[in-house]
Amino acid sequence: MNILLVGSGGREHAIAWKIAQSPKVDQLFIAPGNAGTALVGTNVDMKADDFDAIKSFVLAHEVQMVVVGPEDPLVKGIYDYFKQDEALAAIPVIGPSKAGAQLEGSKDFAKAFMMRHHIPTARYKSISAENLAEGYAFLEQLSAPYVLKADGLAAGKGVLIIDNLAEAKKELGDMLGGMFGEASKTVVIEEFLDGIECSVFVLTDGKDYKVLPVAKDYKRIGEGNVGLNTGGMGAVSPVPFADETFMEKVDSRIIRPTIEGLQAEGIDYKGFIFLGLINVKGEPMVIEYNCRMGDPETEVVMLRIANDLVDLMEGVAAGDLANRVLKQDPRAAVTVMLVSGGYPEAYEKGKVISGIDQVDPESILFHAGTKMADGQLVTNGGRVIAVSSYGANKEEALAKSFAGAKAIQFDKKYFRSDIGFDL
Ligand code: AMP
Ligand code: GLY
Repeated sequence: MNILLVGSGGREHAIAWKIAQSPKVDQLFIAPGNAGTALVGTNVDMKADDFDAIKSFVLAHEVQMVVVGPEDPLVKGIYDYFKQDEALAAIPVIGPSKAGAQLEGSKDFAKAFMMRHHIPTARYKSISAENLAEGYAFLEQLSAPYVLKADGLAAGKGVLIIDNLAEAKKELGDMLGGMFGEASKTVVIEEFLDGIECSVFVLTDGKDYKVLPVAKDYKRIGEGNVGLNTGGMGAVSPVPFADETFMEKVDSRIIRPTIEGLQAEGIDYKGFIFLGLINVKGEPMVIEYNCRMGDPETEVVMLRIANDLVDLMEGVAAGDLANRVLKQDPRAAVTVMLVSGGYPEAYEKGKVISGIDQVDPESILFHAGTKMADGQLVTNGGRVIAVSSYGANKEEALAKSFAGAKAIQFDKKYFRSDIGFDL
């Protein structure tokens, strides 16, 4: 079959790498892709949210499945666009409906959903300009630090964690005043939860589901988890504290109620659900839902899926996921992200990348922000390349990835040498 994968980051290169290994696949297209996805499939110059262009391409190239990497096209309704179009309705989109994508597209929706289905999460209140006084009163009831979240999509930047009350009140006003544009017209104030986070990924056909290997990502730019938030500087799988006891709680208290809740509310969901969880003294609680895979978690999760991902996605499309098997690779997998100096603030692009041929062939390089220019591989984003490796344990895998991270060169390269340090 022919598959179109939508997106252009390290996550999409990792998914493309996995799809390309499937004997079921004839042609794999990636729109728009990057220099890495071009190594495992054919890049197509289309924007991820240009649904009309995607339609023409899908029909012209007999695409039989569309896999959506990022949240943006999902929140904008690519699933519904296909469902409502006579020519496209039979082509499965792996990703939720617009209504399902609201789990990520609106934090207010996600919190209310969790309340309706008794899913453990931080206490909260949704505030808009109309009930600002209630927001102040709620902040006064909480103790520091204070968590303020823009309701809508804000490219991963919409969460503020603030140490003092006066500043929290001020920032609440600023957010409502448009700090994140439309996305912060409503702000979710949350109780701060103290614990260690992990990312749990679920693939569902709307009734049944498979829980993919658990991962942990490292969001802060600086070693020791300090400094600004980034898209993610590295990831590790498995996660030792996500043991059988913990995962049984995750399954019974969070995953099952989520799937059953979506079904009960008549929300179409055939795709990935990303549960951002926090372990509060052994009890899992939900920090956030995303309607897609995580980045850079995907750069380790794909390594730990030992069988055919396309078979599982076919199960999602056919609604018979219960009859398919997921096999996990017992090895550890890690990834270390090479970023452009200055990221996540201003950085330069177009730096020539060298040393790829010096990397141990056992490591797998997933390109995030790269492109080919005049026959040379150059940087084209803040996050540039994720160096993924297997090992008998995380230390062994990390040694390989750090060696690869050192071997690759570009001007102002930076990476964190402490990925996995806290596990
Ligand atoms: P989110 O976009 O909701 O995942 O929030 C971004 C990050 O802020 C999370 O990965 C957490 O590290 C942190 N965070 C969000 N909500 C809370 C909370 N209620 N308590 C503690 N930390 C939080
Ligand atoms: N790694 C976190 C995310 O993809 O949102």
